[in-house]
Amino acid sequence: MKKILILTGGGDCPGLNAVIRGVAKRARKEKDWEVFGCIEGFNGVYNTPHEFIRLTRSKTAGIHVKGGTILRTTNKSNPINFPVLQPDGTTKFVDRSDELVARLKELKFDAIINIGGDGSQRISKVLCDKGVPIIGVPKTIDNDLSATDMTFGFSTAVQIATDSFDKLVTTAESHNRVIIMEVMGRDAGWIALHSAIAGGAEICLIPEIPYDVKKLVKRIELRYKKGRGFVNIVVAEGAKPKAGTVTATKGEMGSEHVRLGGIAFQLSKELKDAGCKAEIRETVLGHVQRGGSPVAFDRILATLFGVKAFELALEKKFGRMVAFRNNEITSVTLEEATKKPNLVNKNSYLVQAAKGLNISFGD
Ligand code: F6P
Repeated sequence: MKKILILTGGGDCPGLNAVIRGVAKRARKEKDWEVFGCIEGFNGVYNTPHEFIRLTRSKTAGIHVKGGTILRTTNKSNPINFPVLQPDGTTKFVDRSDELVARLKELKFDAIINIGGDGSQRISKVLCDKGVPIIGVPKTIDNDLSATDMTFGFSTAVQIATDSFDKLVTTAESHNRVIIMEVMGRDAGWIALHSAIAGGAEICLIPEIPYDVKKLVKRIELRYKKGRGFVNIVVAEGAKPKAGTVTATKGEMGSEHVRLGGIAFQLSKELKDAGCKAEIRETVLGHVQRGGSPVAFDRILATLFGVKAFELALEKKFGRMVAFRNNEITSVTLEEATKKPNLVNKNSYLVQAAKGLNISFGD
């Protein structure tokens, strides 16, 4: 029997289970493949005893409708930058990739499928260069990978943000308030931009377009010209003022990233300080956007990614990441997959169309 190992790394995302099921179902058709899941990113390989589960029919049946990942995940097991707690309580990041490669070789897996975002795909590239038969599957609600037109999880996050936005509109209108809704989007403003258009926001702030708070106050005043009015703002967590920095706090022990979140409150204060007279309220959606059942589009995309990933393994096409391009499920090299992020272009039609709809970016 041949053996394939699947793992999920980085932040979770609706659709991960659909990929796992897609791989397992497609593999079952081949009769001579056994599918294993690695628990909690690469920790399942590092841990002694190893933590793997056999992905039998009963383990994967029906999981495509479930959010999260049945394999669990972590953003603290990067083999190239592995956090090791020191006796003095500090964390040192060490390269444990050779150890991982040796363990994987010992375990004799014929293929590894690494489902993750840009960080995970960079790890896949390093492991591939060291001889690991690896295939990448892109995931992120942020949709910030340029080698694929779309990542699964993004549509679900946009739907959740839009549903929340709709609810905030009725309360903003009832109270003549400005309501700021903060969404995820570390470097890329896709969720903010899409939900702002879908919901009909007056203001949309994204990391790619730093905002001028005075311009925002003017836009708000226009809506209160006849006394009453209301304004709905969508702001991505990574948005920043022209003169200022992104709102962030230190990440947890072992985390490679700072924690974003809180721009809604910062913006609220900036608006007040710049003379905004209206009452302002803030809502931070946070991880609600990453939870729950994936929408149909994400289930389909994730399932097809799983099927394709297994087929690449079958054809021994390692060192590639599955991708959705020009309406087709295809694959790209891991090198291409990790070349550059997919950020919102301020000259794109999407941004120009949003401006045509009178959505202000504060630029
Ligand atoms: O990368 C996806 C993402 O959802 C970002 O938008 C966000 O900054 C980050 O994950 C949050 O990560 P964590 O769950 O570790 O707080």
